[in-house]
Amino acid sequence: MIQPLLEVKKLFKSFSSNHVLKGVDFNVRPAEVHVLLGENGAGKSTLIKILTGAYSLDKGEIYWEGQPVKINTPIEAMEIGIATIYQELNVIEELTVYENIFLGRELKNSRFSLLNRKQMIEKAKELLVRLGQNPLLATETLGNLGMGQQQLVEIAKALILEAKLIIMDEPTSSLSGREVEQLYKIVDQLRNEGIAIIFISHRLEEIQRLGDRITILRDGNSIDTVEVATTTPDEWIELMVGRSLDEKFPKKDFERGEVGFSLRDFVVEAGQEPINLDVHYGEIVGISGLVGAGRTELARAIFSADKRVSGKILINGKEKKIKNPRQAIDAGIAFITEDRKSEGLLLDLPLDLNVCLANMKKFTGRSRLLDLKAMKEQANNYIQDLQVRPNNIELNARHFSGGNQQKVVIAKWLCTNADVFIFDEPTRGIDVGAKVEVYRLMNTLVDEGKVVIMISSDLPEILGMCDRVLVMNTGRITADLPIAEATQEQIMKAATIGL
Ligand SMILES: Nc1ncnc2c1ncn2[C@@H]1O[C@H](COP(=O)(O)OP(=O)(O)OP(=O)(O)O)[C@@H](O)[C@H]1O
Ligand SMILES: [Mg+2]
Repeated sequence: MIQPLLEVKKLFKSFSSNHVLKGVDFNVRPAEVHVLLGENGAGKSTLIKILTGAYSLDKGEIYWEGQPVKINTPIEAMEIGIATIYQELNVIEELTVYENIFLGRELKNSRFSLLNRKQMIEKAKELLVRLGQNPLLATETLGNLGMGQQQLVEIAKALILEAKLIIMDEPTSSLSGREVEQLYKIVDQLRNEGIAIIFISHRLEEIQRLGDRITILRDGNSIDTVEVATTTPDEWIELMVGRSLDEKFPKKDFERGEVGFSLRDFVVEAGQEPINLDVHYGEIVGISGLVGAGRTELARAIFSADKRVSGKILINGKEKKIKNPRQAIDAGIAFITEDRKSEGLLLDLPLDLNVCLANMKKFTGRSRLLDLKAMKEQANNYIQDLQVRPNNIELNARHFSGGNQQKVVIAKWLCTNADVFIFDEPTRGIDVGAKVEVYRLMNTLVDEGKVVIMISSDLPEILGMCDRVLVMNTGRITADLPIAEATQEQIMKAATIGL
C-alpha cells in the first residue's frame, strides 16, 4: 500500500440548501496524475477550491502525508505544498516572465533589501529550461506570450514554491493543439520528478493520454476510483452519468438547400486576403484551425463586435447593413461566444433574465410591461433541454458551475430566434452527456431552416457533426472540404501549412 500524499475522507459542502459535496472520498499518490471526472455541476471545482483553501468545508477530514491538516486559506495550502493553476490565469501581463514568477516572493539582497534581479533572472531561466522552454523568455514581457506560455509561468510559480501537488482545473481548454502537446509533456515530466497532479478535464482522449487513476464524481458523491490503464472511456461515461451513452454525435442528414448566408470580399484586418464563403440551409459548416488562426476574429467581425475593413454580409440572398452588434442581432445573427465570463452572462442576474435578455422585445407586451411568465416558461424549456443543473431559473448565474454557465449562454441565443447561428467553441467545458444535447439543438436549428456555423478546435466534433469544414490559417481559408472527404490529417495540414 502506497502512502497517499493527500487523502480526503467524507467531505461535505453545501451552499445554503444546495448540497454540493455529499461525503467525497479519494486519495492522491505521489507522482501520479489523478483525474477528477464528472458531469457539469458534479462538484469538481468546489472540491479543489476546498483543497486550496478558497472555500471552507462543512464536514470531513483532509490528510497530508498521513497527518490530519486544516486548510483555511490559500496561503496555508501553498505552505503545505499545494499549488493551483486556475483557468483564469493569475498573471500580470505588463510584467516580465521572471517578475511574474517571483511576484510576492521576490529575492532580495539581504544587506540593503534591494531586489536581486540577477539572481531572480538566473533562477527563472533554470525553471524555464526545466519546463523545456527557451531561457531567454525570462526577461520577455508576459503580455507578448501566448496562452500556453503564460500558463507555464503559472506552473513555474508552483515549482518555485516546491509544490508537491499541482491542481489543474481544465487547463487545456484555452490552448491550441501545439500548446496542449507541450502541456502534456510538462505534466509527464512533473510526474517523473515525483510531483502529484490533480487534473480536471472533460476530454476523454486527454484523460487516456495523461491519467493514472480517475475518481468519478456524480452529483456530489465519489462513485469510484479506477485505473486508466485497465478501464475504457465507455466505462468512465457509464460511471459518470449512471447509464451508457448510445451515440456521441447524433448527426442527422438534411437536404442541402439554397445559400442562406454569404460573405463577399470580407476583409477583417488590413492586408488580409478577402474571404468569400457561402453556407447553405440544411448543412452545418465547421470552421477549424489552430487557436490564433483568425476564426474568432472572423466571427467577431461578422457580428460587428470588432470593425471590419471591408466586405458584404448577405443573409438569405439580401445584403445586410451591419455596423454594430445591435444591428447584427436585428439582422438575425446570433453569436455564441467562447468567453462566457466576459461576453456571455450577467453573473448577478437570475437565469431566466439571462436567457431572455438578448430578446426583451419578444417578451414586452403592448402595455410595455415584461411578460415575466412567458419569460420563465421559455427559459425553463431551454434549461430542461440542456440539462442545466441545478434546474432553478431563479438562481443567479454566478452560482452555476462553468459548464452549466456555458449552457445558459447557448440558451440565451436560442431564445433570440435568429436566422444565423455562429457557435464559437460551443461545447468547451461541457460534459459528454450534455454535449450530445447541444448537438441535438444544432440539428433542430438546421431542421427549422437556420444557418449553423460552428467554430471548434475539437476535431472529432467537427468530423462528427458538420457537413463541411473550412480550415483557417493566419486569417485565410486554406481548405474547404466536404466531411466525407475530410480527415484529421488533412485538416491539421491545412491548419499548419506555411506556419
Ligand atoms: N458560490 C456558489 N454558490 C452557490 N452554489 C455554488 C457555488 N459554486 C458552486 N455552486 C454549485 O455547486 C455545484 C457544483 O459546482 P462545481 O463548480 O463544483 O461543478 P463542476 O463539477 O466543477 O462542474 P463543471 O464541469 O461545469 O466545471 C453546482 O450545482 C453549483 O451550482
Ligand atoms: Mg468546474
